[in-house]
Amino acid sequence: MKKILLGLLGLTALTAMAAPLTEAEIDAAVADLIGKMTVEEKVGQLNQLSGRGLDPGMVALVAEGKVGSLLNEVDPATVNALQRQAVENSRLGIPLIIARDVIHGFKTIFPIPLGQAASWNEDVVRQGARIAADEASSVGVRWTFSPMVDIARDARWGRIAEGFGEDPVLASRLGVAMVEGYQGDDLSKPNTMAACVKHFAGYGAAESGKDYNTTWIPEVLLRDVYLPPFKAAADAGAATFMCSFNDINGVPSSGNRYLLHDILRDEWGWNGLIVSDWGSIEQMRNHGFSRDLREAALQGAKATVDVDMENYAYTQHLADLVASGEVSMDELDAMVANVLRLKYKLGLFDNPYVDETAVAFYAPASLDAARRAVEESAILLKNNGVLPIDFNAVKTVAVVGPMADAQHDQAGTWVFDLEKEHSVTPLMTLNEKWGKKVKYAKGLAHSRDRKHDGFEEALKAAQGADVVLYFAGEEAVLSGEAHSRADINLPGAQKELLRELKMAGKPVVMIVQAGRPLTIADDAELCDAVVYLFHGGTMAGPGIVNVLSGEVNPSGKLPVSFPKMVGQLPLYYNHKNTGRPAEGITYIDDIELEAGQTSTGCTSFFLDAGDGPAFPFGYGLSYTTFEYGTPRLSSAEIAPDGSVTVVCDVTNSGSVAGSEVAQLYVRDLVGSLARPVKELKDFQKISLQPGETKTVVFNLPASSLGFTNLKNEYVVEPGDFQLWVAGDSASGTPVAFAIK
Ligand code: GLC
Repeated sequence: MKKILLGLLGLTALTAMAAPLTEAEIDAAVADLIGKMTVEEKVGQLNQLSGRGLDPGMVALVAEGKVGSLLNEVDPATVNALQRQAVENSRLGIPLIIARDVIHGFKTIFPIPLGQAASWNEDVVRQGARIAADEASSVGVRWTFSPMVDIARDARWGRIAEGFGEDPVLASRLGVAMVEGYQGDDLSKPNTMAACVKHFAGYGAAESGKDYNTTWIPEVLLRDVYLPPFKAAADAGAATFMCSFNDINGVPSSGNRYLLHDILRDEWGWNGLIVSDWGSIEQMRNHGFSRDLREAALQGAKATVDVDMENYAYTQHLADLVASGEVSMDELDAMVANVLRLKYKLGLFDNPYVDETAVAFYAPASLDAARRAVEESAILLKNNGVLPIDFNAVKTVAVVGPMADAQHDQAGTWVFDLEKEHSVTPLMTLNEKWGKKVKYAKGLAHSRDRKHDGFEEALKAAQGADVVLYFAGEEAVLSGEAHSRADINLPGAQKELLRELKMAGKPVVMIVQAGRPLTIADDAELCDAVVYLFHGGTMAGPGIVNVLSGEVNPSGKLPVSFPKMVGQLPLYYNHKNTGRPAEGITYIDDIELEAGQTSTGCTSFFLDAGDGPAFPFGYGLSYTTFEYGTPRLSSAEIAPDGSVTVVCDVTNSGSVAGSEVAQLYVRDLVGSLARPVKELKDFQKISLQPGETKTVVFNLPASSLGFTNLKNEYVVEPGDFQLWVAGDSASGTPVAFAIK
């Protein structure tokens, strides 16, 4: 468009400098192009296939305009060759979009999103996404299927690894940061990627944490817990959405017009592109929601799913559905317009090719950023003073465990482009810095290893050391898609190995690298310190060692609740109080023989697990201590359309500098629906020198204190509230205020 204009004026040299097309110019160009397209060419734009290199069949489909986008093609020369087929050989020269699951880095791998969430730092997430976009776009990827903002309350679910945890406010803020990192301020710049917010919606509510399982989500819960991060990302300008595999209350998302059209497009006013998940349209037959592929195609189109990922539902049936009038030409054109609009926004009509000489990965600054992300994501769960370790003072450090030197597995799930030889492990870092002091005994071949063959050597290493660093956790394959676990203990014989190491009588520091919360409460009891890292990526080694040595003071906070036992799941901090909240907990081993039916009291707890988490949402220790003053409010009463300013002093009462995440929680004591006992409303990460006090200031609008009622109305009700400013969801003293 602009190229033609500038060309006519002999100003083509300015083309590359052309400002991005305006919405109006894009709409005009799209309308003009659609007017020239055949139905077959229109359907072609809705077809997304997984790359097969320069397979002749693929080349032919692209040249005939029968493919609109590809995923999983990351060789820049192949990308350009296929792009030339689309741009120079197809009738209308419409460029392809190349997509990839760049979930937490392309080549420089950052902590998995759950780990990045533990940083509670939008800058960490935004920078990681920016670096991922720089690296992936350098090979031609301009669309990533990320951020995943599914709220997860069940650690059995393998995909808890890919999201930002259990809280809608934390997930919203970090999801927006990821969108901003990928898309930048101008999507037409060649180093950007269109974000894809997924999986819309409710995927994390899979019953029993079993992936792909059905979900039952009352609309009030859907709207107040599962949808907010998607709404935030939509409002932040996310270019695309992906519908989820699951059904919500019997309606698969891929055919859910109420969700995708009425809520996302109409109610929220979002007009981007919706892509199916892999085969999710066709899978509506498995759901028993579609009689056949033709009906699935119809249901997907009516739900306004624009692009059909590896389904062939649209290529096989959409033209026929249009011919029969079951899908109108206007409906088809609206789907095509969403695809073409994205291609114009990405600048692909002007710059369809990738510069094969500009491929760039692992910039030192990127690796530094990845290491800092690890440092900010590490969560100190326990420390009896053994940390930080003065590695210059200790004589021997025993390094044990299957995750001490796991270049592949420390990267975590969704790392299709990982080059593991670039991963720096904890053992590599320790050997590089203090090699002469390190005594390494793996103990187990991998995280699932059940054999005790390596135990003797491990115990011997521990006996000869001043301190034992036990690197436990999960291999990457034990979390992520289709990798739910019904038992979330440390896998293999890791628990037994820990108990073997304890026999050496030396301090034990357990460092867990995993894709989910694990039930480690009993293991933690045996350790002198516990550091938890949700798979840290390329620079997990230097990041973890900098925390262990005290070069970095850990500041990570849990984005998810840790259960004591798997039977407690689903488990989350923002739960209801129930009519009989737990009190006077009697544990199973304390019950008298032939005890009476009501002897343990009749309140809500487990006889074997009691109540509540092993480690609460928002929890994380530091090498220093922080004291919170009593929050001060600008007013104890606020109008339903008003707001209150909350001020709270936070002091570093320890001896070393550190960062703290001050968290603002509220409770609505009485509502027309029972309300959660706590809800995160805001947070700030602050750095404090020893003895320093900072005053954190929050603005709390009454409008953020509402909820969805049974009529699906968002209501802010007058009444009494409590408010906390604390370092986790289980601490602090509440102050009262009211909405009048
Ligand atoms: C997968 C995942 C989705 C991913 C897509 C493409 O099955 O559910 O998150 O983006 O397919 O790889």
